[in-house]
Amino acid sequence: MKVSQTIRSVRKNVKEARKQDKTIGLVPTMGALHAGHLSLVEAAKKKCDYVVVSIFVNPTQFGPSEDFEKYPRPIDDDLQKCEKAGVDVVFNPSANEMYPEKVITWVNVEKITDNLCGHSRPGHFRGVTTVCAKLFNIVSPDMAFFGQKDAQQAIVIKRMVADLNMPLEIVVCPIVREKSGMAMSSRNKYLSEQERVDASYIYKSLQKCKEMIDSGSRNTKTIINEMRNILEQKESIKIEYISIVDEKTLENIDYIKNNALIAIAVRIGLTRLIDNFPIDITV
Ligand code: PAF
Repeated sequence: MKVSQTIRSVRKNVKEARKQDKTIGLVPTMGALHAGHLSLVEAAKKKCDYVVVSIFVNPTQFGPSEDFEKYPRPIDDDLQKCEKAGVDVVFNPSANEMYPEKVITWVNVEKITDNLCGHSRPGHFRGVTTVCAKLFNIVSPDMAFFGQKDAQQAIVIKRMVADLNMPLEIVVCPIVREKSGMAMSSRNKYLSEQERVDASYIYKSLQKCKEMIDSGSRNTKTIINEMRNILEQKESIKIEYISIVDEKTLENIDYIKNNALIAIAVRIGLTRLIDNFPIDITV
């Protein structure tokens, strides 16, 4: 496995793979890799001949009071995991390599970034779309792989790619969960044992939502109230939002008529956790 720390070096590696007619898959990450990321690598290996994993804790997507400094950066462990997973090249640039100058050119997707996490993390998605556009320009992949755990991020990136005619396919892979049901996330590392137990109530509330929908409930207020009752059983859980939104516009809906997304963000102690569940009422 190769490790490229510069744009020039990763481009050179990709160019060599292209010369051999290989298709290129990119898995963009911020490191602290877990089974969720490795499932993206596995999907990339199935669909592409040459897999690039980027590991870059992107400063432009963190707000001033967020956890950029504290975000875990276990690079040696990450490289070992990538090697074991059969990654061809890890792109691990410095902040200076990615942003040699103060950013004045942004890629910004409007409207669908206003609600959900966009509401509580202003500027977050602008940072995500800007860095992803840069990574797509640097690596020029045929496909890029994202997790359903960050559902809004995946929808926003798909829209950016469509609107800007970027020549790649976005593949969204299912959420990987721990035994307790908690969605895998690099931020789970921040949780204490007790907080991990409490965090499993997020999944419990999503299961309740699924049960209600399966048995015919369509009124979103009723469903959200039930979910809130479950989450409020744990004092440590502070709800940021529980929303049921249209899967395309990401606007809140009162009644489930078409496919929708139920999305949750909570804080447990100092840790912010998100989870979601796509609702497909056609099945
Ligand atoms: O999902 C993440 O880890 C990040 O938001 C991403 C897509 C790698 C951009 O920094």
